[in-house]
Amino acid sequence: VSLQAFNSFGFDVSARYFVELNSVEQLDMLRQLIDRCGLPVLIIGGGSNLVLTDDLNQLVVLNRISGHAISEVEGGVLCVTAGAGEDWHSLVRWTLEQSCYGLENLSLIPGTVGAAPMQNIGAYGVELKDRMLSLEAYDLNSGETVLFSCEDCQFGYRDSVFKSRYPGRYLITHVTFGLSRTFNPVLHYGGLTGELSARGIESPSALELSDLICEVRNSKLPQPQQIGNAGSFFKNPVIPVDQAEKLKQRFPKLVAFADRSGYSKLAAGWLIDQLGWKGRREGDAGVYDKQALVLVNHGQASGQEILELAGNIQADVFKCFGVMLEIEPRCYP
Ligand code: EPU
Repeated sequence: VSLQAFNSFGFDVSARYFVELNSVEQLDMLRQLIDRCGLPVLIIGGGSNLVLTDDLNQLVVLNRISGHAISEVEGGVLCVTAGAGEDWHSLVRWTLEQSCYGLENLSLIPGTVGAAPMQNIGAYGVELKDRMLSLEAYDLNSGETVLFSCEDCQFGYRDSVFKSRYPGRYLITHVTFGLSRTFNPVLHYGGLTGELSARGIESPSALELSDLICEVRNSKLPQPQQIGNAGSFFKNPVIPVDQAEKLKQRFPKLVAFADRSGYSKLAAGWLIDQLGWKGRREGDAGVYDKQALVLVNHGQASGQEILELAGNIQADVFKCFGVMLEIEPRCYP
């Protein structure tokens, strides 16, 4: 089965076996299937954070568990539960239409609800972990359904237990968010306030904020339907403050933000941009011309070619800044 339509880079690789999962009732059957074929499993949602470098001798499971509901109101907190296969941005807009606030900064992030906790999606000063209450996952080893609290997921910057510790073990079925009827806008992210004042908006409504974020994202990030990509290709590197200060002496315009105490997060896009990579191409593998952190497939690039380009960027950044960039999407096989 070709996976071209199921990964946002549009790599034309195939999977040995491919099944679509539509409901939790099918989970036990899925487990039997896994046992019978004896191959490793790859669960995909929107396929928007994947680099597929070759055909997969695997069973690929497309998680399409659907549904969303506001399940209970408790001390002013609204619990919104959604199936893992729901489209993320549609869920965000649906919550806003229900006057249910908290997810607006995460507007227009590609992918599904179930993929969001994998890498703790984040944008414009909000991360999934700030809004998630719990999730349900099916343990493909034991066949049990396990409830994970936010703490159990050990969320980090673009990281969780599902991505780093238990890849392939849990299939996320539902995610529950704690949202609010009161709109408390998060506007501190650099650039957002500027964008608002440029439009003469002083205190935006939640829908206005969501619309603005869509506009900003559309102006910087390529739409996967038009040009294959997986969003930011590298994580913003987190380095000790003293190392960042030394770099700042050599490169006064370095973009760095305070992270956890003692650490500084550098804008990887800035580092790559400084070295002239923006808009560059190696065959059909390229660096997006409006955001140097995004690698794109101009047509026929393979996953291997994208990784080669990434390797060249990593080597160049390391040579100049002494910082090793870490690849953000998951790579298979
Ligand atoms: N910059 C440049 N040149 C570039 C790109 C960026 O100089 O080519 C500078 C910008 O001027 C800015 C700084 O780098 O000062 C940060 O840029 P931006 O606000 O675009 O955000 P980012 O750090 O590049 C991160 C996330 C994005 C998220 C945005 C907004 C990561 C790896 N990426 O990008 O997430 O949308 O912040 O919050 O943390 C993703 O994970 O796929 C993703 C798109």
